[in-house]
Amino acid sequence: MNFSQKKIYEYCEAHTSPVSKVLRKLERETHLKTLAPQMASGAFQGKLLELLVRMSQPKVVLEIGTFTGYSSICIGTALAEDAVLHTIEANRELQAIIQEHIKVAKLDHKITTHVGDALEIIPTLDLMYDMVFIDAGKRDYERYFDLVIDRLRPNGIILADNVLWSGKVVDKKKDNDTRIIDQFNKKVNEDPRVENITLPIRDGLTIAVRK
Ligand SMILES: C[S@@+](CC[C@H](N)C(=O)[O-])C[C@H]1O[C@@H](n2cnc3c(N)ncnc32)[C@H](O)[C@@H]1O
Repeated sequence: MNFSQKKIYEYCEAHTSPVSKVLRKLERETHLKTLAPQMASGAFQGKLLELLVRMSQPKVVLEIGTFTGYSSICIGTALAEDAVLHTIEANRELQAIIQEHIKVAKLDHKITTHVGDALEIIPTLDLMYDMVFIDAGKRDYERYFDLVIDRLRPNGIILADNVLWSGKVVDKKKDNDTRIIDQFNKKVNEDPRVENITLPIRDGLTIAVRK
């Protein structure tokens, strides 16, 4: 590819529907109040999540890794009135910012927040999912996948973020975290239960659809 990737991204962002007032406020507060604001999905990926939800109309969505709630609001905004999002966050200190913005976005009736370790919480949720967004501890991606794959309805979607790990997955010599992500990507790709695509969007996004 001989075009500037940065310029292409800027062009794509400029030709993507704008984000809501509440998401702009949440982005500002995420920068002010957290140490790693880049963890939030942001406008571009957030819009993709929103549109995927609009297109597939899931009734039950699970999000693993809420952070400040940016992606939860993107997903929640596009959910039908009778659909629900369960989102899990281990860091209790983020609850205030999450709850405030879910309320301002008027999504409290659609979003249930869970505080604690997703690996412990997921087995207690007796639910079948139409969509799962995996975006918590990268070292546990394979375990999250194993916990949800048989709870996904046919044509249900698993999304997984950061699967290119800043592009390091293509390095010949991989550090430990990169090897773990690479192993996850191979696992998904070899799993006969899903049809999948790895998209070079932002830090890499996997879409895997249950057969
Ligand atoms: C990349 S951020 C999530 C970003 C969010 N989904 C978004 O797009 O705006 C990852 C979050 O997962 C949380 N996390 C990490 N391990 C977890 C676990 N085992 N259970 C629940 N949350 C976890 C972290 O505290 C962090 O807030």
